[in-house]
Amino acid sequence: MSARLPHIALAAVLGWTLGLLLLGSIVHATESSLACPDWPTCFGTMMPEMTGGVFWEHLHRLVAGALVLLFAAAAWLTWRRQPERRWLHRAGLAGVALLIVQSVLGGLTVLMRLPDAISSSHLALAFLFLGLATVMTVVTARGWGGGARLAGAARAKLAKMAGGVAALVLAQSVLGAVVRHTDAGMACPDVPLCLGQVVPPLEHPLVILHFGHRLLGILVALATLALAVFVLRRRAAAPLPALAAGALVTVLAQVTVGFLSVSSGLAVAPVSLHTLLAAMLLSLTVALAAYGYEPELRLADGAAGVATDSRGPTTAPARQGPDPHPAL
Ligand code: HEM
Ligand code: HEM
Repeated sequence: MSARLPHIALAAVLGWTLGLLLLGSIVHATESSLACPDWPTCFGTMMPEMTGGVFWEHLHRLVAGALVLLFAAAAWLTWRRQPERRWLHRAGLAGVALLIVQSVLGGLTVLMRLPDAISSSHLALAFLFLGLATVMTVVTARGWGGGARLAGAARAKLAKMAGGVAALVLAQSVLGAVVRHTDAGMACPDVPLCLGQVVPPLEHPLVILHFGHRLLGILVALATLALAVFVLRRRAAAPLPALAAGALVTVLAQVTVGFLSVSSGLAVAPVSLHTLLAAMLLSLTVALAAYGYEPELRLADGAAGVATDSRGPTTAPARQGPDPHPAL
């Protein structure tokens, strides 16, 4: 149990972060962003009356504060229990630094009255932190480095494909944030067409932004489909099939919710769910990419290596001995 503690703590961080991202999105969607006019206090106190917009804005701040403490504790636990994994400790320190910068950015959005660039950067940094927390959670999981879920070339391809899809999801999410904060969300007020056409007149910058987000969304969906097919056809070991299937279901739901956001006139529920699904998709694809970098099994003397074909490992290789914390 104690060896699993860092993983459990990091998995809790991951869940907490997803909840926080959803809350942040609700803050914007309910127009509560300036409900607390000051920062770090709210109306000069840490215990304001939790009504109206103050409820969402101050709750977001409290949950963010708790995340900083929770993550710092998880990173400290990882350092104590797995002192030989130096890169993991550096990742922990980078995560704490990211959260501090993120909190200052959150404060600046309030003090500077929501400039588009800062609001969009606040989302970008939130997603970067989520990616980091996902990698840390995966590499501390039981069984990490203990078996080839996909062998040789297939694993290298997984790393490239999933890494590429994760980068696309991140770019699409930052573009989504720009769409949101420049108020381009209703620049195409109709679905599935845009201004009544498959390709609208690309003259107004807001239409270009909105239409670009839709196009990239379809590309992200196709890329995720290709990734899922790649993993599922190779009969990879757990948890890869579940992660791939999860990514596919999430991206399909995301495209649907994107269109629902427009048809509902940017109602609070679909736009907030849209942020949560984007974050889940990023986390799932980053986890798949991390498994693409999972170290090879170390083989017993004389063993010929993991026998593979294009569909993955075909023999169970002999272990040389436990290597509980191989490098990523
Ligand atoms: C005390 C620190 C923080 C403050 C004061 C703060 C403040 C805010 C505010 C005012 C908004 C609404 C922005 C807008 O309408 O443009 C917001 C949104 C958001 N926050 Fe925070 N935040 C803090 C920490 C965090 C942390 C640590 C995370 C995640 C790691 C986070 C994630 C988000 C997300 C994802 C959104 C939605 C962004 C969007 O809609 O584009 N926040 N936050
Ligand atoms: C499939 C990949 C997609 C990803 C990862 C993604 C991600 C995001 C993110 C993170 C945001 C900013 C936060 C938010 O407003 O929720 C956003 C905004 C938005 N997205 Fe997407 N999106 C995708 C596809 C689509 C599609 C296909 C549409 C179809 C119309 C769409 C419509 C919108 C709209 C209208 C907004 C602005 C919402 C607002 O103003 O509050 N998205 N997207």
